Amino acid sequence: MGNPAEANNVVALAKAPSGIGRLSEDTIRHLVDRFYVKVRADPQLGPIFERAIPGDWGPHLATMHNFWSSVMLTSGRYKGNPVAVHLRLEGIEPQLFERWLALFDETCRELLDEDIAAAFRAKAARIAESLKLALFYRPDQPWQRIAP
Ligand code: HEM
Repeated sequence: MGNPAEANNVVALAKAPSGIGRLSEDTIRHLVDRFYVKVRADPQLGPIFERAIPGDWGPHLATMHNFWSSVMLTSGRYKGNPVAVHLRLEGIEPQLFERWLALFDETCRELLDEDIAAAFRAKAARIAESLKLALFYRPDQPWQRIAP
């Protein structure tokens, strides 16, 4: 990770899981697209996403394809800083990560073989935890928001 903007990059935590050879870029695209259909329809998460992405969803979906390709296939396609992006979000709360993970898990189970679904789930849970820590955790004031 030579890029200083990626100092907090949660992808740096990720290594491709073993047994993932059957996973293709097409499958990742399919999973991401279906997940965000669920997210947009969700009463808790939907409004946060609609506020942040009021127009064309194409760029966000493309970013997320690249993100999951980097995490699961170590393709290096994603260049970004998820912590900085989530810090700017209005309405994001620690407990919403449970909902996000539940929808992600549900989508994985619908579309993927169990071993691959489990690998996605494990990565998502770990990244969610590190995002939550970066966004909300302060030793003196646990679980309070640090940015508007
Ligand atoms: C409560 C939970 C979450 C909420 C409400 C949320 C919301 C959002 C929103 C609204 C964006 C688009 C921001 C924009 O384009 O302006 C975004 C981007 C993103 N999210 Fe999340 N997210 C959550 C959890 C997660 C988790 C658990 C992961 C990873 C496992 C994740 C990965 C990403 C990535 C990689 C981006 C793209 C960042 C970039 O533009 O480079 N998010 N998220």
